[in-house]
Amino acid sequence: MPIVETDTLNYSIDDINILKNISITINRGDYVAVIGPNGGGKSTLISTILGLNNGFTGEIRLFGKPLNKFNEWNKIGFVPQRAIEIDTKFPITVLETVKLGRISFNRKFWQNRESSDGDLIINEIMEKLKIIHLKNRLIGELSGGEKQRVMIARALVSQPELLFLDEPNTGIDIATQREFYAILKDLNKNKGITIIFITHDIGVIEDSINYIISVNREVSKSESPQTIFNCKTIRDIYGIDSHLKNHRH
Ligand SMILES: Nc1ncnc2c1ncn2[C@@H]1O[C@H](COP(=O)(O)OP(=O)(O)OP(=O)(O)O)[C@@H](O)[C@H]1O
Ligand SMILES: [Mg+2]
Repeated sequence: MPIVETDTLNYSIDDINILKNISITINRGDYVAVIGPNGGGKSTLISTILGLNNGFTGEIRLFGKPLNKFNEWNKIGFVPQRAIEIDTKFPITVLETVKLGRISFNRKFWQNRESSDGDLIINEIMEKLKIIHLKNRLIGELSGGEKQRVMIARALVSQPELLFLDEPNTGIDIATQREFYAILKDLNKNKGITIIFITHDIGVIEDSINYIISVNREVSKSESPQTIFNCKTIRDIYGIDSHLKNHRH
């Protein structure tokens, strides 16, 4: 079942066509990597799909509903690019930050105390992401990698069915990245969560993903991760001759 669909989506900023005629279909259970050069429009594509950009033309459907009719935002988790740079001066603890992720989930959050169910989920996810020991620390005191894990936990506590991640790995050490990829793979394979992951690091997740969408104003889609490991394809996407590093072991 299609979970994200765009049909001849066009979006311009100051008369510059950032997204051109983009028609994509992402099905439930897919794990999709989104790649492309800097400025190619990857982040803009995601923010437009999430209804954050007005003035696009064409159609966007989420869970089968047109964007303007869609309101089940608790089904969607989003870790924006540079998420770890946000909130750093804000005097809020790690636990409070993660709990913010459940606001859209529980509309009565502000009137009623969170259910114990919610607390259990929050605990489980914080343990999985190894941030439970940090729960009373201020967010601004954390390292980049710790902050990143908090942002990912925040996106997961509403137990989304669809997860968008925009380069969440910038500045994160390799061991932490590997653990993170393992968590994503588990969420996709065992919990059936659909994942749309903007990354420049497809070599490492090649085994987990179904296919790759490359965005350079226009979009092309690979049949399988392997078809992208081709110098000509990479040249067409990035405009340079390069051999993509394949970190597979
Ligand atoms: N608010 C804005 N105002 C003006 N131009 C913008 C705005 N947002 C994005 N753009 C432009 O749109 C183009 C696409 O930007 P976008 O951030 O989507 O690229 P990206 O593929 O995510 O790049 P990166 O890999 O660097 O994150 C860029 O040329 C950018 O300068
Ligand atoms: Mg971007």
